[in-house]
Formats: sequence, structure tokens, C-alpha cells
Amino acid sequence: MIPLSLARIAQICGGELHGDPAAVVTGEVVIDSRRAGPGGLFAAVAGERSDGHDFAAAAVAAGAVAALVTRPVPVPSVLVADVPRALAALARFVVDALPAARITGITGSSGKTSTKDLAAQLTERLGPTIAPAGSYNNEFGHPLTVLRADASTRYLVLELSARGAGHIAYLCRIAPPRYGVVLNVGHAHAGEFGGLDQVARAKGELAEALPRDGVAILNADDPRVLAMAARTAARVVTFGYDPAAQVRAADIRLDELGRPSFTLLTPEGSAPVALRLHGAHNVPNALAAAALARELGLGLPGIADGLCTAVARSRWRMEVRRRADGVTVINDAYNANPESVRVALDALAHLAQSRLAEGGRGFAVLGHMAELGGTSRASHEEIGEYAARVADSGLAGLIAVGEEAAPMLDGARRVPSWTGEAAAVPDGAAALELLANRLKPSDVVLVKASRAAHLEGVAAALEGEAGQ
Ligand SMILES: Nc1ncnc2c1ncn2[C@@H]1O[C@H](COP(=O)(O)OP(=O)(O)OP(=O)(O)O)[C@@H](O)[C@H]1O
Ligand SMILES: [Mg+2]
Repeated sequence: MIPLSLARIAQICGGELHGDPAAVVTGEVVIDSRRAGPGGLFAAVAGERSDGHDFAAAAVAAGAVAALVTRPVPVPSVLVADVPRALAALARFVVDALPAARITGITGSSGKTSTKDLAAQLTERLGPTIAPAGSYNNEFGHPLTVLRADASTRYLVLELSARGAGHIAYLCRIAPPRYGVVLNVGHAHAGEFGGLDQVARAKGELAEALPRDGVAILNADDPRVLAMAARTAARVVTFGYDPAAQVRAADIRLDELGRPSFTLLTPEGSAPVALRLHGAHNVPNALAAAALARELGLGLPGIADGLCTAVARSRWRMEVRRRADGVTVINDAYNANPESVRVALDALAHLAQSRLAEGGRGFAVLGHMAELGGTSRASHEEIGEYAARVADSGLAGLIAVGEEAAPMLDGARRVPSWTGEAAAVPDGAAALELLANRLKPSDVVLVKASRAAHLEGVAAALEGEAGQ
């Protein structure tokens, strides 16, 4: 955060100051009072379960200079009409005060966090980088991330999420990106949007927000993303498998844990890359990060080396652990939508296949995919069918957790050649019980569901069971 007096903050937010106008905020802006620290600013947000205003005093006691509030509190505060708007105004002020910081926005239906984490590990080679932790990508997380920037910041690598039209345009006004990466248009939140074309319209707001001297980095393999070239004033750079893409991958192979290696092809030449991340879906994510870093001035050797050393920074996304007893657990419990479940099932199939000689089999523990709207039932059936079709690679069991996931079994039954076991269980505990009698060393278990299903507990129990 750049140092700002309370008087200045009140002025920027159009708020009313209750406190010492000369007191200066030098620390982080937070919405979780437990994270409030010396010199910081606490933004009070009313959540479903608790109201941040009740914690303003605790935040100040922990060292925060003041609280940003919408109703009076008994500690120094800036009273505003709307806290997210105030954070947005503050963040925009900070961005405008830091012209040396180059701003990138990354959006898409799947892979934003994975790509953001890869891209940040590349830009860190060029200079001080601010990137959000995890998926800090909405009207709260986005400005809070931007507010962490200071005079030393050279790169802001931001994740932009949308649940409807106008959301990305709004985030782009808070921190106007010069570089925009669009990964894909898929079914995540498609129910809320009304369909894939609406998703494309919303994600494309990033392309529209880019300036003439900016760069739109678009996935050449996704026609809805590529079409965004017509919606931007910026120069277009493409990535993907398509031979016409400027940044491409060839010779893709997966090792026995599903980690991809490939030849990175750029206009400047080619270089071998071996990712530490799991799943073939991380290849396009890596290409997007490479295309961005290339535009920012990182040379091919730096890009290739950076991709080879980059680690997964955010939890529960394709974490692969081999237990002491030989069972492999794929913890992808962070979130789920039809595209990401398919790529996770591909990874499961690959891992099980590579242990086939030892008798390894695959088990998929899948919870529901949320927010699909009217297509929910059909989408779950399709996923069940897809899971059964990759049976050739040894899917021994499909365990659907919870009522909404149960239609997966109907889908799996459409594949008569599949001989695996299909079961619907009410909750994670039942899934664990069922697996306990079945898992043998060399087996591979995938755990995946939407956030709302909270299957990370199942994954943790599986990972911990036999000790690491
Ligand atoms: N390029 C991709 N295509 C399809 N699926 C992907 C891709 N990248 C990641 N995934 C899948 O999506 C899951 C979530 O990845 P990630 O957290 O990077 O996405 P996100 O877009 O940030 O999601 P969110 O909208 O929840 O923030 C991963 O665990 C993986 O299964
Ligand atoms: Mg994310």
C-alpha cells in the first residue's frame, strides 16, 4: 500500500472522517479483522454470518489505523455509503499513482488461478510482482490485491472473475489492464449467465477494456475467445495448439503423475519445458503465461526455465500425492464445472493407466457441479458418461456424492461396455467408507466437486489416511 493519510482516504472515497486526519495508513487493507495489522486499514463488510462492523474495534486493537465502514463504530473510521465502491476508488487511486506498474488481467471460465500463479512466477523474474493469493478475483479481492501495490511494484497480475455482464468491465475500471489474457469460455457459472454466448460476451469485456497500445492474449483453440480479437483495440497475440497460434506447444507428453512436458514454440525459437503441475490442461495455461511474459520482455530461456520451476501456489487444484501404501490421491476439490471435471477425469485416466501394470485402477469421487442452471441434470449425466468412456484406462469406480451428483450414474449406465462400479452416496463420509474397503496399493483416486460440496475434507482424509 502506498502511504495515505486518513484525510486523503476520506477524500478519495467520498467518505466522512471520524478520527485524526493526519494518521497515515501504511499497511495492508483487509476485510478479515484477524488479518489486521499495524498501520493497516480494516474494511467492514457485512457477510451472511457476521458483520465486519462488529470487529472494527478488534481490528484497531490489532494495529489497524482505522476502519472503512457504512455505519458509525466506536473507533477511528471513514464512513462511506458503500464499502466495495470505496475500495474500488482507493485501488484506482493507487493504480494511477503507480504508472510504472504494468497491469495484466486474466480471465476465462477455468484455469485463471493456475495461469495467474504461473504468470506471476514468470514476471517475478522481471521485477517485483503483486498477484492475488488464491482466487481473490471479485469486487472485494480485486481491489484488496491492487491496494497491496506500492512504489516498488512493476507488475500486477490480476485474476478477473465474472458472474454476470459488466463484472469484468467493472474490475477493469478499478485497475485498467494493458495486457489481457482470455483462457476459455466454458460452463462455469453458465447458468447464471444464460449460456455460453453470454459467458463470451462477459469475458470479452476484458478485450474491450484494453487500450490501443495494449495486448490481447487470446486462446487460438477456443473460437469464442479468438472471436474477441474483433472486440479489442489492442494488438492480438494468440496461444494454443492451433498451428496458427504465435505461442504454441508441440510433442506433449505426460509423465506417470500426469505432469506435462512439451516443446514451447515461439516466434523467437523453441525450448523444452517440463511442468511441475499436473494435468494436460495446464499446457494451455502455461502457453498463456508464456505469451504474456514474452510481451512483458522475458526472453525464451527465462520463460522456459520459469515454467519448469513454477510450482502450484494455490491449494486443492490437481494436487497429486502418493500415499505410503502406494495409493495416489488427486485432490482437485477446489471447484468443478463440466470442462474442469473432464480434464480431471483425463488426468485420472492417465495416472491409472500408468499404474495398470501394477494392477492400478481409477476411482472418481465426484460431487455436484454448481450453478449450471437448467442444464444441470443433463450436464451431470454427460459427466457420468464421460467418466465411463475413459473406462478403458481403468476406471473401477464412480462415486457420486450428494443428490445433485447422482444423475452421473444414469450417464455412466449409457456406456454398456463399462464394467466398473457406480454408486451414489449421500455425503463425503459415506464415500470414504465405501472406498476404505476397496482401495488397493497402485489405485488412483480423484476427488472433485464444486466448492459448495466441500469435498476437500474427503481428499484430506484420503491423503492423510496412510500417512504421507
Ligand atoms: N485450461 C483449463 N481448461 C480446463 N480446465 C482447467 C484449466 N485449467 C484448470 N482447469 C481445471 O479447473 C480447476 C480450477 O482451476 P483454477 O483454480 O486455476 O481455475 P479458476 O478459473 O481460477 O477458477 P475460479 O473461477 O473458481 O476462480 C483445476 O483444478 C482444473 O481441474
Ligand atoms: Mg480462481
